[in-house]
Amino acid sequence: MKFFVDTAEIEPIRELAATGLLDGVTTNPSLIAKSGLDFKEVTAEICKLVDGPVSAEVVALDHETMMKEAEVLRRIADNVCIKVPLTVDGLKTCKALTGEGTMVNVTLCFSANQALLAAKAGASFISPFVGRHDDNGFDGMDLIEDIRLIYDNYAYATEILVASVRHTGHVLQAAKIGADVMTAPPKVIHDLFKHVLTDKGIEGFMADWAKTGQSIL
Ligand code: G3P
Repeated sequence: MKFFVDTAEIEPIRELAATGLLDGVTTNPSLIAKSGLDFKEVTAEICKLVDGPVSAEVVALDHETMMKEAEVLRRIADNVCIKVPLTVDGLKTCKALTGEGTMVNVTLCFSANQALLAAKAGASFISPFVGRHDDNGFDGMDLIEDIRLIYDNYAYATEILVASVRHTGHVLQAAKIGADVMTAPPKVIHDLFKHVLTDKGIEGFMADWAKTGQSIL
């Protein structure tokens, strides 16, 4: 399973990239606004920190302007993945861009039928928002299961990128279902490393090791 981090903050990306476990980055207009940074500058900086796809989202709502924005964004770096909303114009843009060999992440997906449309439009990634689905009284993981089934039925190459991840349980369930990618805020990724028994075990081993008076180096 690929791990993307969902942020436009440079330091958390640098820190996670150093673990060797980070496969990509996703941003959106809200995350750019939260960072307070210049969109194009921060995207260029992020693209230098990770080799994998870095999603940068268009903000136009019509196909023609989306294409113009995508042209500016994809010139930033080879690993820019253009993010488009799941609308008629967004999918028209997706089809055109993927036809030219540009990676596209279709975002704001809340139904399996929408995910089917994105696959037909040749999307590289589909981003179902599980957290926001849960917030509205649905089960986000049912959506992931349905999309997995449909994509497998037709052998679509579109990767399921589980987005709007709020906790480690979402990551576990997504992995069990066989989602290709998950994107989570830095805190959730750091939480994946944690277990109380790991901490306790280290404490015990260190205490016993100290009693030996030995050193490895
Ligand atoms: O980047 C899209 C998605 O991950 C947003 O998450 O927490 O704002 O619903 P959230």
